[in-house]
Amino acid sequence: MLDHGEAPPTTEQAPAPSQGLGARLMRRKPVEALIAEGGQGEGGTLRRSLTMWQLTMISIGATLGTGIFVVLGEATPLAGPAVAISFVVAGLTALFSALSYAELAGSIPVSGSSYSYSYATMGEVVAWICGWCLILEYGVSVAAVAVGWGEYLNELLDGTIGVTIPAAISAPLGEGGFINLPALVVVLLAMVFLMGGAKESARVNSIMVGVKIVTLLLFIGIGFMGIKAGNYTPLAPLGVTGISAAAASLFFSYIGFDAASTAGEEAKNPKRDLPRAIMLSLLIVTVLYCLVALVAVGAMPWQDFEGTDAALAQIMKDVTGQSLWGVVLAAGAVVAIASVVFAVLYGQTRILFAMSRDGLVPKLFAKVNPRTGAPRANTVIVSIFCGALAAFIPLGELANATSIGTLFAFALVNVAVVILRYKRPDMNRTFRVMLFPVTPILGFLFCAYLMYTMPSTTWMVFGGWMVVGLVFYFGYGMRRSRLATAEK
Ligand code: ALA
Repeated sequence: MLDHGEAPPTTEQAPAPSQGLGARLMRRKPVEALIAEGGQGEGGTLRRSLTMWQLTMISIGATLGTGIFVVLGEATPLAGPAVAISFVVAGLTALFSALSYAELAGSIPVSGSSYSYSYATMGEVVAWICGWCLILEYGVSVAAVAVGWGEYLNELLDGTIGVTIPAAISAPLGEGGFINLPALVVVLLAMVFLMGGAKESARVNSIMVGVKIVTLLLFIGIGFMGIKAGNYTPLAPLGVTGISAAAASLFFSYIGFDAASTAGEEAKNPKRDLPRAIMLSLLIVTVLYCLVALVAVGAMPWQDFEGTDAALAQIMKDVTGQSLWGVVLAAGAVVAIASVVFAVLYGQTRILFAMSRDGLVPKLFAKVNPRTGAPRANTVIVSIFCGALAAFIPLGELANATSIGTLFAFALVNVAVVILRYKRPDMNRTFRVMLFPVTPILGFLFCAYLMYTMPSTTWMVFGGWMVVGLVFYFGYGMRRSRLATAEK
């Protein structure tokens, strides 16, 4: 798997045992060692079965969901009809980082995504911090999205059979119930499918992605007939401030485009296909988001979005005059949000797989079932953790911290791409960021700016999360790291 002309695996960066704490924290894993380990787990290997199209579907699966079906309704009152421009601004932030992801995924096609890129370029402690942030981006956001799924399911049940799930079993303690059963159920369902391995998972995922794309195309087609030109004026009643406030909240709708980069060890031709999948998925979701937003604000006055829970379903009902279409949209949203849970849960298991192989989390996470090629114990543990989080814990601020954690990981990827270009100019790169180094620097600045605009409570939660992560690293990972044990 070594690129032609590259140096053989080396451990030159591993410090000798006598070296100090600084050197240990900065120990880097050579790119070639990362690539050479591709697929290897404990007791089995991951299978290379995913095509470019399936990888694209994994990224779309993880991306397109709550943001367009729920957050659009909340962001429109902030920006007015210009909410479509806010989608473009949020998409640009994602684009700069996506280019860096594409270059690194094509150069280091492994399962750890930005965690592994950081390990190769910035050293172990930064990699750990990145991996810990990815648990916010993937693990905690699965729980948050599962909670949102339960709410949409209730709307669907209400619209079809006129029944809703009682609060006692659809909300956690502290929010008027005992357990959020729907959220737990959707996570456990995802777990069952994921246990079948990457090929099976990709099939299920592609079907769900197909359903959600068709639902949004239906919305665009039907909503288009209800557009009134007057709804577009004034275009930006709340000015640039409104557009950027909406863009900050809509950034959530782009989280997940990087999910294909967690499938590096299960892709048939990762070096060629990962960069393509990442860029293609971002293009598809951006076009869909902008069209849906343009149609939505054209068909319903922007002021009416305030207080309307399921705005897209409402527009379908209003335009057609038939409640059936509202139900169709709600059903599509239920599938869409379930597919985010599914694809993001997949990503989380693969990131922990890579971290476990490096010794930073227990070995169990890298155990692969030889029959299915799936990391089964890992999948069960992650699903139970995320399911319990969704079912019993009022997520509140922890859910808000997912965006800041994601932005931090994106910022690191932009730094990693610059470091790798300077340290390893010779590497075979199947995709190169254009306008280097301007693009990754802009990507970094965009991420840093959006982090800066986050409220202080979110920063405090994020700080607390980091402290817990560092305690875990110093108490476990630093000593168990494969690079550390290789030194002994
Ligand atoms: N981007 C994902 C969603 O919108 C997290 O649900």
